[in-house]
Amino acid sequence: RVAGPCVLVLFGVTGDLSRKKLLPAIYDLANRGLLPPGFSLVGFARREWDHQDFRQIAYESVKEHARTPFREDVWEHLAEGMHFVPGEFGDPGAFDALAMAVKELDESRGTGGNYAFYLSIPPKFFPQVVEQLQRSGLAERGHGAWRRVVVEKPFGHDLASAQELNDTVHRVFPEESIFRIDHYLGKETVQNILALRFANTMFEPIWNRSYVDHVQITMAEDIGIGGRAGYYDGIGAARDVIQNHLLQLLALTAMEEPTSFSAEAVRAEKAKILSSVRVPGDLATSTARGQYAAGWQGGVNVRGYLDEEGIPKDSHTETYAAVKLDIDNRRWAGVPFYLRTGKRLSRRVTEVAMVFQQAPHLPFSHTDTEELGQNALVMRVQPDEGITVRFGSKVPGTSMEIRDVNMDFAYGESFTEASPEAYERLLLDVLIGDPPLFPRQEEVELSWKILDPIEEYWAAQGALDQYKSGGYGPDSADELMARDGRTWRRL
Ligand code: BG6
Repeated sequence: RVAGPCVLVLFGVTGDLSRKKLLPAIYDLANRGLLPPGFSLVGFARREWDHQDFRQIAYESVKEHARTPFREDVWEHLAEGMHFVPGEFGDPGAFDALAMAVKELDESRGTGGNYAFYLSIPPKFFPQVVEQLQRSGLAERGHGAWRRVVVEKPFGHDLASAQELNDTVHRVFPEESIFRIDHYLGKETVQNILALRFANTMFEPIWNRSYVDHVQITMAEDIGIGGRAGYYDGIGAARDVIQNHLLQLLALTAMEEPTSFSAEAVRAEKAKILSSVRVPGDLATSTARGQYAAGWQGGVNVRGYLDEEGIPKDSHTETYAAVKLDIDNRRWAGVPFYLRTGKRLSRRVTEVAMVFQQAPHLPFSHTDTEELGQNALVMRVQPDEGITVRFGSKVPGTSMEIRDVNMDFAYGESFTEASPEAYERLLLDVLIGDPPLFPRQEEVELSWKILDPIEEYWAAQGALDQYKSGGYGPDSADELMARDGRTWRRL
């Protein structure tokens, strides 16, 4: 799978995402030989840069963040195709200059009139950019050439704004040209959920309400909001990652087998399962949220959310969210899915844990099985990528004592090749035009339908719990589980 001739136009090239993820990913693709020889990258932003400034910034970000080793020849070749166009998002002159620049590249580098526009910019600028792409003729595909537009989250703030945003992009680009990025779907371990379930025979027979007690989906981060106050405040943990990453993990874990691995088939199954998700009626007992307070983390005393730069002292934005969801279908009826995410927790871990029912009968003494828990299959998304099966085993000795043990699969031990970074995989898919790993609008809307009532309920509540940085989240999240006679897996 190698991309054909094309130009990638990156809007928002001065932003964090470009610097840390996109530019390094483009270099890694070049380094692996997955980009065509004339591949060209055009940066567009409100800076008085020239081509050389852009190349220098890109060079620094590649040096710092690329996954693959630095090779002078690869860099030189890539840099030759890098151009910068300065301008405001609403300025017709700047877009005319952009149109000229890409046409010249078509001639000088043989990019064939194929353009991908990556909108790594706040959604409030989408209408302007999309309109200018249309007005300047950039959105219009020539003979046999393609146009693609890549949209970064957040896809709206709620269902209504997501629909509005979608209408804006659709005014110019047809659905098959729109690539919505949820970078979790670019992760190897996330794609492996479908491989584990549908390439094997062992797991699927027990993947249902007859054997599974409940499912826990965790995305814990140790970092705070860093310099992202402007983006994060008013958004919060649920909109930031539950609406997209965690609900996508739920969909992949719970969906039925797709008829094939085509985009249509996979997306249809995901949409089906998301439309079966039910938010329990009593949101006071099935949701929890909190905000990080100061605390010790990794030996450093860190400040609380309300003391972060740019955050209003009376902010009610949650940095931790937990929700319990039900799935109304035959496979999952009665099996709760617990989702939790938070910043400034004790460690960084993302995992999906299927927790199985207790054995219906234990022919051992009570004292011998005191340390036997519930069986679990844990898909470790990151950072320690792999899969763990947890089950009871006899403790060596003269009694029949049984205790939980782990059986592990670790990527590092089974595969020598390092996994590509999520953005590398997704960028390649965009350039190739391969859509299975990109959520379609229906999934985005279904996810907002799940979240909207929860957000409304929280907004009406006002103040929220605090939790210590470096800890395990607010007590209310533990109480949510305790009410169901369950506990969260240890972070
Ligand atoms: C982003 C969120 O989508 O995912 C961030 O906006 C979060 O708040 C990030 O930190 C986490 O990504 P990853 O790949 O490090 O788990």
